[in-house]
Amino acid sequence: MKRFLTLLSMCLPLAAGAAGGENTVSVETAGSQMVLYVHQNGEVSFYHYGARFDNPDQILGYKSYRRWDYGTEPPAYPARGGRHFNQSALAVKYQDGNINTELAYTGHTVSRLSDDVARTVVKLRDAVTSLEVSLFYDAYYEEDVIVSHAEITNAGTGPVLLESYASSGIVLDAREYLLTHFHGAWAREMQVESELLTHGIKSIRSIKGVRTTHTENPSFMLSLDTDTFSEESGDVIAGALAWSGNYSMDFQVDETNRLSVISGVCPDGAAYRLDKGMTLQTPEMIYTYSGSGAGQASRNLHAWARKHCLYNSSSVAPTLLNNWEGTYFKFNEEILKGIVDDAASMGLEMFVMDDGWFGGTDYPRNASTQGLGDWQVDPAKLPHGVGAIADYAHSKGLKFGIWIEPEMVSPDSHLAKEHPDWIVREDGREVTTIRSQWLLDLCNPEVQDFVFGVFDSTMQLADGIDYVKWDCNRHVESAGSSYLKDNSSFWFDYTQGLYSVYRRIREKYPDVIVQSCASGGGRMDYGALHYCNEAWTSDNTEAVSRVFIQYGTNLIYPAIVCGSHVSAVPNHQTGNVTPLKFRFDVACSGRLGMELQPSDMTGSEKDFARKAIESYKGYRDLVCYGDLYRLGNPYSDDCYALMYVSPDKSRAVVFAYTLKFMGRTRRPLFRLSGLDGGKSYRITELNVEKSCFWGHGKVFTGSYLKGHGINPNMEKVYSSAVFYLEAEHID
Ligand code: DGJ
Repeated sequence: MKRFLTLLSMCLPLAAGAAGGENTVSVETAGSQMVLYVHQNGEVSFYHYGARFDNPDQILGYKSYRRWDYGTEPPAYPARGGRHFNQSALAVKYQDGNINTELAYTGHTVSRLSDDVARTVVKLRDAVTSLEVSLFYDAYYEEDVIVSHAEITNAGTGPVLLESYASSGIVLDAREYLLTHFHGAWAREMQVESELLTHGIKSIRSIKGVRTTHTENPSFMLSLDTDTFSEESGDVIAGALAWSGNYSMDFQVDETNRLSVISGVCPDGAAYRLDKGMTLQTPEMIYTYSGSGAGQASRNLHAWARKHCLYNSSSVAPTLLNNWEGTYFKFNEEILKGIVDDAASMGLEMFVMDDGWFGGTDYPRNASTQGLGDWQVDPAKLPHGVGAIADYAHSKGLKFGIWIEPEMVSPDSHLAKEHPDWIVREDGREVTTIRSQWLLDLCNPEVQDFVFGVFDSTMQLADGIDYVKWDCNRHVESAGSSYLKDNSSFWFDYTQGLYSVYRRIREKYPDVIVQSCASGGGRMDYGALHYCNEAWTSDNTEAVSRVFIQYGTNLIYPAIVCGSHVSAVPNHQTGNVTPLKFRFDVACSGRLGMELQPSDMTGSEKDFARKAIESYKGYRDLVCYGDLYRLGNPYSDDCYALMYVSPDKSRAVVFAYTLKFMGRTRRPLFRLSGLDGGKSYRITELNVEKSCFWGHGKVFTGSYLKGHGINPNMEKVYSSAVFYLEAEHID
């Protein structure tokens, strides 16, 4: 019997092992372990993902006491065929019409990608068809994250059709599985839903293409052996797919009560022809394990994302004023300059000019009905060009950002008339518009050049464009590319085309801050965030809705990527009216911005904004780089709070909100988490004349703040508070 350990101190690849005996392959992080089991016949089973038990050889000789010949052992990467009867990660149709694949182990390697990251590659092969699969497992030791993907190589003699080609599968064994996932719609992203899985398959997916979708985010949490979602206790596994197109995550509880989770590109209508000698690389699937509840699972993902995934997380987008809700399409140079003046006077750091500046003279973008594709300045609005606004912003000490939507074209545009072949459509069918626009075909390299060119030429419109908001306001209907021979690869190739444009942009513009926006949070995924510094969390800027949207978003994605803006009341999306302080206190828990016409604000509102923005700059590092602790849950608590703690636990900021208040009997009590019990913290309420907490300005130990908690007097609906905590230095 042989065993192959993931030796974390190794610097060079280990030699591949040979099949013929029983082996374990163990992928380990500081607090988690994934164990694959190589059987004598070469089949590879998935036997463990969860708490670390170190020596994986303990599992050698494991007996499930289930009938092997009934196919009950869970494959690491289930392929359709053989005795496998559960859902498949891989389904292949061969040139001769055969549909079975049986993968067997041929070896594995372990190498070190960096001090913190070890890569294990398990190699599998079908002896009959010569199809090869390599399973990649990158273990991020400190962050307890394992990132997995598959590479499928056609080493046979003719083309094959990949009918499904998932990134990764895991198998869990627990009494019950509580699935938490994120459904939604435009302006209602990342709504949290938890359900106990029953036998059968539960699938979350998108077949809308182009973007991740608002409808269901490609991420989940699984709480094991419980029917209750807990922040602080229990085994939780979280997953997220780094992909901005169609996807599926399928959860199957089978007859043995095990749960298999298969995640990757959605196979629906997306069969991929793999020619002889070609390799298809699937998107990465990110997993983390926490033995102490959902809070730690989120913190693991956030820490991993900041360190290993997000595009340049060391550069936080500045606080900004975006003119979209303030002016919509009705603006000109003078109006924008007035906004810049107000933004500068309130202490904001950037002005972002949103939709409406282009379309040239023929199709000026005065409404969403025209102009996309014609990326020339509208001289009626901006007679001195974009440069005049950018220069003005710079002269006031602000950075400058601009909006584009380069993947789209309006029927009323020169581009649509000149390049009908660039539009996503199927010959003979009507090309439907959504928001009066069509989609450009990023499968086509010429279109990729054009989209890159839109970004590139926009960057030349002014000296010093610091930020680009990249929008994407429709999904695919009647997929079709005149460039592709076979449209079933459209879904995969479109997203690859997008990523290839992103890569070119990053080569040429490594420092520009890019926001991933798609009608709000439609492109909130770790695929896009690998190239974009942040995302627009939602078009819903209403503060109460935002508490829920940001709560759901931050279960998976860190606050540093979450654009969060203060807007006017009554709110344009919901009509709700909340106090300015409440709106600021919600927006300040993400990347702060404002999105309104500041000339509509009163003097005292501007004074408050100035103070809130200044104090935000003092604790912004905690929001962006601190550890998030959720103190409850906005779905079940009338008063909800969250806090960010610095990694050394010397500082923290707490945001508290009263979402409902229906009488005086129940008052908030927040037990502060994540602090050092032995440290003493001075607690200060920010941005108020009179604090709502009797302990304001006093010093408490971390253990008091956790054990006894704080009870601010927040007895009005939409009252809110921000508390800053700093450890006292005791010499
Ligand atoms: C949708 C975005 O989410 C909004 O923020 C805004 O940029 C509009 N598009 C502009 O058309």
